Amino acid sequence: MTIIKDIKTYQGNTIDLVLADNKDHIIQADGLTALPAVIDPHVHFRTPGMEYKEDWRTGAKAAIRGGCTTVFDMPNTKPPTITQSLLDEKKALIDRQLKEAGIPLRYKLFFGADKGHLDEIANIEKDCVGIKVFMGCSTGNLVIDDDESLHAVFSLAAKHHMLVAVHAEDEHLIRERKANYQGEWNYPVHSVIRNIDVAAKAVEKAIALTKRYGTRLYILHVSSAEEVALIKTAKQAGLPVFAETTPHHLFFDTTLYDVLAGKAVVNPPLRDPRHREHLFAAIHEKVIDTIGSDHAPHTPDEKALPYGECPSGMPGIEFMLPMLLNACSRDLLNLDEVVALTSANARHIFHMPPSDDWVLVNLGETRTVERTESKCGWSPYMGLTLKGWPVYTILKDTCYKVNN
Ligand code: DOR
Ligand code: ZN
Repeated sequence: MTIIKDIKTYQGNTIDLVLADNKDHIIQADGLTALPAVIDPHVHFRTPGMEYKEDWRTGAKAAIRGGCTTVFDMPNTKPPTITQSLLDEKKALIDRQLKEAGIPLRYKLFFGADKGHLDEIANIEKDCVGIKVFMGCSTGNLVIDDDESLHAVFSLAAKHHMLVAVHAEDEHLIRERKANYQGEWNYPVHSVIRNIDVAAKAVEKAIALTKRYGTRLYILHVSSAEEVALIKTAKQAGLPVFAETTPHHLFFDTTLYDVLAGKAVVNPPLRDPRHREHLFAAIHEKVIDTIGSDHAPHTPDEKALPYGECPSGMPGIEFMLPMLLNACSRDLLNLDEVVALTSANARHIFHMPPSDDWVLVNLGETRTVERTESKCGWSPYMGLTLKGWPVYTILKDTCYKVNN
């Protein structure tokens, strides 16, 4: 067994952890703080079909390095996860890749809502963490852009006790606005085309559907003050609405286009700086429940393509916790909020049993982001100097040393 001695928990107790592995090892961990391991409810690990961007071997390594032991993967793969049999095939591939990596990462899958396959929803209740609805197009071709299908998804999900997770951007408004900006094709115009009205319109519609059908609703990557206001009202009305933000919407804004060009293109897009304060306030007020990395890797070559061809998305899983710990060091958040955002609230929303996974962090360590485990080979956090880093990640009684 491995015994990790003298760890302080984030609540201030001192504990020893005993891991039932086949080693005979004592780790002295004074100076480290134990947090529940991160649950990342929003990743795109690209299996099947886009493994040149990421796969579960590299994705799992990036997760562990970021203190994360559980991920929920999105269905916009090739092919998309829109039938029970595609779901089963995807699971088999993932299990094989995790076995090859030697990392038994915990995972759950979202099922993709697709107009042609809504009848499949009746079969997948036990196998999925929820139904993902792209209300606007993003990477891949999953989209539900008509009201009839949206009503069908929300009503079926309620009937089968499933949660609906929405990518809330209104497809019709995106198309209309895109047509207006044809002559101004550059990366920053992305934030103008897919503006806040695009997101707010879709959030409003999704909340109205929850009100009508009682469906549990999880609003992905909330990025603006306007969405926060709508969600706050819905929560105050007692609706079963939950909200996620992302590290890139919390820590970056439209000024990143000047630094990273196409690498800053993401859906929903980066916003004006003022929204970041509103996202922090929404965390303090418990309007935002969770943080998901929306880890969406694309290769540097793809991200160098001109606007219109450059795919949306950026990797994030590895540096989400360090970014949050760094925010604690600057008094923008506290550790209780970090635990709520990164594990406790997801456990509650997605009805997950307790686990003994931990991440031991050194809150005093300052280090610069210099490399990534992600197959895409780049990170928007590269070059940032952060205070607060994972040192050990504990998954299913195995202790991974990760401060390298
Ligand atoms: O920027 C994004 N990238 N937003 C999404 O909704 C999908 C993701 C991806 O899969 O690349
Ligand atoms: Zn996503």
